[in-house]
Amino acid sequence: MSDRTLVLLKPDAVERKLVGEVVSRFEAKNLDIVAMELRQLDADTLARHYEEHVGKGFYDDLVAFMSRGPVVAMVVEGPEDTWEVVRKMMGATNPRTAEPGTIRGDLGILFTENLVHGSDSLASAEREIGIFFPNL
Ligand code: PPS
Repeated sequence: MSDRTLVLLKPDAVERKLVGEVVSRFEAKNLDIVAMELRQLDADTLARHYEEHVGKGFYDDLVAFMSRGPVVAMVVEGPEDTWEVVRKMMGATNPRTAEPGTIRGDLGILFTENLVHGSDSLASAEREIGIFFPNL
């Protein structure tokens, strides 16, 4: 059985021209990219995507960051537990403490600008894919 997860390459990844680098890592892992689109996110889409964080202290900063330029939205597919495989490849939320060898550990320093989002469970993956790629 194959399963899918949602990945967003955040505006800092696009600005820093790291899209190819990050996509290469997923491809080298033998994951399939089944959808991919450069997209400018609006407040409404972000409120749906980050619904569990609306109202938290960092929410406004998160929205300002995520809408300051386009993201690359992708659906990544693998044989099983793809959301978990991708999260492991991303590393810890804070790039300063993310392990070397991970995307954030190798490529990031600042906390907010952590390069990549990956769904945090199978249920989140299904919900988030529905927001970004409702026709999949
Ligand atoms: S929580 O409250 O523990 O569930 O939050 P966390 O999982 O650490 O983070 C959820 C997403 O919010 C981003 N985040 C922030 N952005 C900007 N500023 C601050 N201070 C901040 N704190 C958390 C974090 O990068 C997560 O983004 P995603 O896109 O889900 O990786």
